[in-house]
Amino acid sequence: MNAGRVFTKNETAIHWGDALDVLASDIGDASVALIFADPPYNIGKRFANFVDKWPSDGEYANWCQSWLDLCIDKLRPTGTLYVMTSTQSMPYLDLYLRDRLTILSRIVWYYDSSGVQARSYFGSMYEPILHCVKNVHDYTFNAKAVQVEAKTGAKRKLIDYRKAVPTQYNTTKVPGNAWYFPRVRYRMDEYEEHPSQKPEALLERIILASSNPGDLVLDPFAGTFTTCAVAQRLKRRTIGIERELDYVKIGLRRLNVQSP
Ligand SMILES: C[S@@+](CC[C@H](N)C(=O)[O-])C[C@H]1O[C@@H](n2cnc3c(N)ncnc32)[C@H](O)[C@@H]1O
Repeated sequence: MNAGRVFTKNETAIHWGDALDVLASDIGDASVALIFADPPYNIGKRFANFVDKWPSDGEYANWCQSWLDLCIDKLRPTGTLYVMTSTQSMPYLDLYLRDRLTILSRIVWYYDSSGVQARSYFGSMYEPILHCVKNVHDYTFNAKAVQVEAKTGAKRKLIDYRKAVPTQYNTTKVPGNAWYFPRVRYRMDEYEEHPSQKPEALLERIILASSNPGDLVLDPFAGTFTTCAVAQRLKRRTIGIERELDYVKIGLRRLNVQSP
């Protein structure tokens, strides 16, 4: 098999190649409802055949800006972009994106254990996510699909006496911007051999909130193809791009796409 190939089945496509090339050549402008971009973070992790370390923060930021520009072109006018990177690099992306899109939320995904147990500083227990839209007056946000329990109403059963007719507080609410989901660990059902696999529960919230069945959901740095697997299960059309063959093979299996 050679890089530059695309494998498809029904509404699912796996592109084996560089995100910049595939975005520029193979994805239609203004065609995508939702993009989830989870690039390498420039923190020295090994991904199959490469180590994720740029010569400088500036070069990493420039590279991110190149694919962010393409992602913005690919989003339809009502589209949504979620972007992740390390806590130390996110300020560069935030400053760049706030001039081009509307950043609706700065989300913190936190968890209860880190890969590295820090002993002489406060270890990193969260990763930032930007939630951005092209048109702040017209975008998809399915609030009901992602509601969580509101403890004041559901557990403490408090009554709101400020209302004309005192009423119990709501028992559900839209989640705030601090999201707890356990990290994917060895022996979990969804675990794949990859250094930074994201949990399906995280992608489920994003895809349910920001797309509808039949919409096109794109992940330019697909890794284990979590985004595409969840999108497929939720009846969205989906495209994943990945440069490393080892991970493309995970995608082919996980999404039940045959390689020729
Ligand atoms: C942080 S991981 C994504 C993990 C993914 N969200 C998941 O749940 O498995 C980033 C991925 O981008 C891939 N990658 C790095 N540079 C790339 C490029 N230029 N084009 C396409 N994929 C790339 C890496 O091989 C890695 O699998």
